[in-house]
Amino acid sequence: MTTEEILKRRTFAIISHPDAGKTTLTEKLLLFGGAINTAGAVKSNKINKTATSDFLEIEKQRGISVATSVMGFEYAGYKVNILDTPGHRDFAEDTYRTLSAVDSVILVVDSVKGVEEQTRKLMQVCRMRNTPVIIFINKMDREGRDPYELLDELERELNIHVRPLSWPIGMGARFKGVYNIYEKELRLFSVNKTKMAKDVVEIEDITDAQVDQLIGPAFAAQLREDVDFLEGYYEDFDLGLYREAYLAPVFFGSAINNFGVGELLDTFVKIAPFPQPREASQREVRPEEDTFSGFIFKIHANLDPNHRDRIAFCRVCSGKFERNKFYYHTRLDKKLRFSSPTSFMANEKSLLEEAWPGDVVGLYDTGSFKIGDTLTEGEMLQYKGLPSFSPEIFKEVVNRDPFKTKQLEKGIRQLTDEGVAQLFVQQPGSRKIIGTVGELQFDVIKFRLLQEYGATADLHNLNYYKACWITSDDKEALARFISFKGSSIAYDKDENPVFFADTAWVLRSVQESYPALKFHFTSDFK
Ligand code: G4P
Repeated sequence: MTTEEILKRRTFAIISHPDAGKTTLTEKLLLFGGAINTAGAVKSNKINKTATSDFLEIEKQRGISVATSVMGFEYAGYKVNILDTPGHRDFAEDTYRTLSAVDSVILVVDSVKGVEEQTRKLMQVCRMRNTPVIIFINKMDREGRDPYELLDELERELNIHVRPLSWPIGMGARFKGVYNIYEKELRLFSVNKTKMAKDVVEIEDITDAQVDQLIGPAFAAQLREDVDFLEGYYEDFDLGLYREAYLAPVFFGSAINNFGVGELLDTFVKIAPFPQPREASQREVRPEEDTFSGFIFKIHANLDPNHRDRIAFCRVCSGKFERNKFYYHTRLDKKLRFSSPTSFMANEKSLLEEAWPGDVVGLYDTGSFKIGDTLTEGEMLQYKGLPSFSPEIFKEVVNRDPFKTKQLEKGIRQLTDEGVAQLFVQQPGSRKIIGTVGELQFDVIKFRLLQEYGATADLHNLNYYKACWITSDDKEALARFISFKGSSIAYDKDENPVFFADTAWVLRSVQESYPALKFHFTSDFK
């Protein structure tokens, strides 16, 4: 039973630079999958770029992102779980953590813009984890870049080999459709935002005379030349190489016009990996093992101000999760039982009785969970691979209301447990420094401290360049460095020492002057 359930699951994320078409593609996949009936059901989880300090906007955003955090649906005998990732770069850490809970990704690239800043960063995270990637080049209805040039750029900038599985015929106003190299089919393009296009013509071969009639002799000649060239130039598509994250199959289409989405989904369910084994600190855990285990990769808090509930999102890694059964919280050494776990089907939440590897379960929590926590049936396991990244913006927390000190401490602790930001404490005086990757998190923190904990705090800018974790095999050298650098040292929540560098130059110079120390930019070393 377990094996059957595992083999049919496909858990993945769609990633892109903002505006490339992630939201549109997500929605169209749900439409093709039959999970929703009308376009417009998936709300963009984008924060309005002009309203960075509009708190209502942030609240609205939080509401939307819970609803669309996981979108599960059944398609062609498969159970597809799409994990949503926030589009805004200030929430990139959230995205990185979500990537730890998927087995593969679809990367959306804008055909006009090609590889952009977030595309690069997100792919770096995928490369670190060897996550298999399918690339969807979107907006072929626009006057985009030359497809060869785009493919070259993808290979060069993303450090991955590519293999087109479809090929565009013209583009922009002259976009005729795509030739599916794999299935030997022509898909003819028509502007179509509401219906699902099914204008597929099966052809014997690219030399078929029908091709000339359908797209005209000039395009037909060009297509033949292209396909000829492609077959010789690119490696054959190899499933193993894709699953090893060495080779990325590429599709062309136009999400807004429902074009190329159906074939993407059909190919995706066939080739994308089912739930894979995962590394815990103690051992590798295989999904088909009898006993349940999973980890928390995302926490959402206090949506309803009358309740202090949070929803912790748990990715099932092995065995079967069951409602009302006691599970072991390995960090707290405590047994917990969940009476109303939630499943996410399309954009509806419902009570869940059981879940299998690859599924995401929403657990109501009153403050027991921290990002990265592991649940098992009793075994002491800690899943690996949820790194924190060295933050880029730092502010000191200054309490404005001495009567609310406790509330402030609790608020800061819980928000940082959720992964909204990182907390560092500096001695003497327990000075609290919050570090984030974006300004927007500070708005969220201030707003939520006040709304949910009744605490008011000032956040004072600190002009640090970077914070990095420091370790050394030479304990004495480390202790000497810490005592020498006193005011530039703080400790993270797990008591690991962190060095705050004022400038890039300072960081370089300490790295050179203290060869016995290691400076880490992600918390992976822990
Ligand atoms: P994101 O989640 O990656 O940020 O992108 P999103 O889907 O919101 O798409 C960004 C913009 O690109 C949207 O336009 C969307 O309509 C458009 N778009 C998506 N797919 C295609 C496509 O295949 N062709 C073309 N030409 N445009 C596409 P917008 O003007 O920002 O928003 P809207 O008013 O259209 O919703």
